[in-house]
Amino acid sequence: MSRQGEAAPGAADLAAELRESGSEVVVAACDVADRDALAALLGRYPVNAVFHTAGVLDDGVLDALTPDSAAIVLRPKTTATHNLHDLAGEVSAFVLFSSLASTTGGAGQGNYAAANAHLDAFAERRRAAGLPATSVAWGAWGGGGLAEQETRARRMSQGGLTPMRPELAVTALEQALDHDDTVITVADIDWDRFTAGFAATRPSPLISGIPEAVVPEGPAARAEARTGLRARLAGFDPRSAHDAVLAEVRDQVAAVLGRAGGDDVPATKPLKDLGFDSLTAVDLRNRLAASCGLDLPATLVFDHPTAEAIAVLLAGQLVAGADPAEAVLRDLAGVEAALSTDTLDATTRTRVLTRLRTLVDDSAGGEPGGDLDDATDEEMFDLLGTKFGLS
Ligand SMILES: NC(=O)c1ccc[n+]([C@@H]2O[C@H](COP(=O)([O-])OP(=O)(O)OC[C@H]3O[C@@H](n4cnc5c(N)ncnc54)[C@H](OP(=O)(O)O)[C@@H]3O)[C@@H](O)[C@H]2O)c1
Repeated sequence: MSRQGEAAPGAADLAAELRESGSEVVVAACDVADRDALAALLGRYPVNAVFHTAGVLDDGVLDALTPDSAAIVLRPKTTATHNLHDLAGEVSAFVLFSSLASTTGGAGQGNYAAANAHLDAFAERRRAAGLPATSVAWGAWGGGGLAEQETRARRMSQGGLTPMRPELAVTALEQALDHDDTVITVADIDWDRFTAGFAATRPSPLISGIPEAVVPEGPAARAEARTGLRARLAGFDPRSAHDAVLAEVRDQVAAVLGRAGGDDVPATKPLKDLGFDSLTAVDLRNRLAASCGLDLPATLVFDHPTAEAIAVLLAGQLVAGADPAEAVLRDLAGVEAALSTDTLDATTRTRVLTRLRTLVDDSAGGEPGGDLDDATDEEMFDLLGTKFGLS
C-alpha cells in the first residue's frame, strides 16, 4: 500500500516476484493517514499483520521548521500509526519502521525525529496494553530509499552512518520479531566519526555505555584541548600561529565537506561557495569548538565566512597577538613612529617611502601612484589603512 499504488516504480515487478514465491498479492493505492480510505481498504482485504513503512522527509534546521513542514512528516507516521492501530483489528505483528533519528536526533530532522519517537512510544503503549508491537529505529539502509538522496547520504556517511545491506537489515528485523522486541535500534555506526560530531559540544550519557563510543568529554577535556592547541602554538610567532590555526580550520572544513584534506580547502573562498549549508555550518562550529576548546557561536560561519576569517578569530582567542591585522597595524605604527622623528637619515627615509609607495601601487593592481607623489606621510598611512582594510 502506498499513495501511488501500482503506479509506483517497480511495484509490478515486486508483486510478480512475490507471487512467484506463492504469495497472494494486492497492490493498493491508499493514503494510510486517510482514515476513511484505510477503513475501506481493510474492509476489503483484512490483514493479520501490519508492517508500517510509510514515511516522507522534509529536512531543515530547527528554526526553519513550520507547522506545515512538521505536519507533512508527522502525518504518514503518527496519524497513520493511530489509524492502523484502530482499524487493523487483531494482528500477530504490528511493526513500525522508525529511525535512528528518534534515538539520537538527526541533523536537520527535528520533525522526523519527533515523528519516529512517537512510533517508538506508541509501540511501548501497545505492548503495555498486551498487544503485539515492534518499533525498529533504523540507521541508514543501502539499496535505495529515503537515505539515498545525495546530500543526505553524504551527511549521514560523514556522521558515521554506514548504509546497511537490505538482506542484513531484514535479518535483524527477523531477529527483533523472534525476540519479541518492543523498541530496538538497528544501525551500522562508525563510532569514531559518529562521536566526533555527536559528542562534540556536550557529554552524551546515551552512548557512554558503548565502549567504542567513549571519548574524552566535559570541561576537563575541553580545557585539555585548549591547552594542547595553545601549547602547540606557544613557541610560534603570531604569523606562524595564525597559519597553524588556519591549517586546523581547513582540516576541519575538509572533514565536514568530506574532502581529502585541508589542502583541498581554499582559505579565502566563501564556505557557502564550497557547499556549506546551515547544517554543515553547525557541524563545523561543533568540531572547532571541540578541537580548539573554545565556546563558539552557532553563527560562526555566517559571521566569519571563510576559513581565513575563522582562523583570524580563533587565533585571536587562542594566542595573544596572533591576529594578523593587529600584527600589521602594530608594524605600521612602528614605521609611522620612525618616520615622524629624526631617527632616519634622508636616504633611508626616501627608501622607506618608496617602498611604501610601491606597496600601495601593487595592492591597487599595479596602477601608477599618481597623486601619491605629492602625498604626505599621514595621507600615505591613511591610504595604506584603506587599501588593507586596517583602519
Ligand atoms: N531508508 C533508510 O535508510 C531509512 C532509515 C531509517 C528509517 N527508515 C524508514 O523506513 C521506511 C521506509 O523508508 P524508505 O527508505 O524505503 O523510503 P521510500 O523508498 O521513500 O518509501 C516510503 C514509502 O512510503 C510511502 N508513503 C509515504 N507517505 C504515505 C502515505 N501517506 N500513505 C501511504 N504510503 C505513503 C511512499 O509511497 P507514496 O509516495 O506513493 O505514498 C513510499 O513508497 C520509512 O518509514 C522511513 O522513515 C528508512
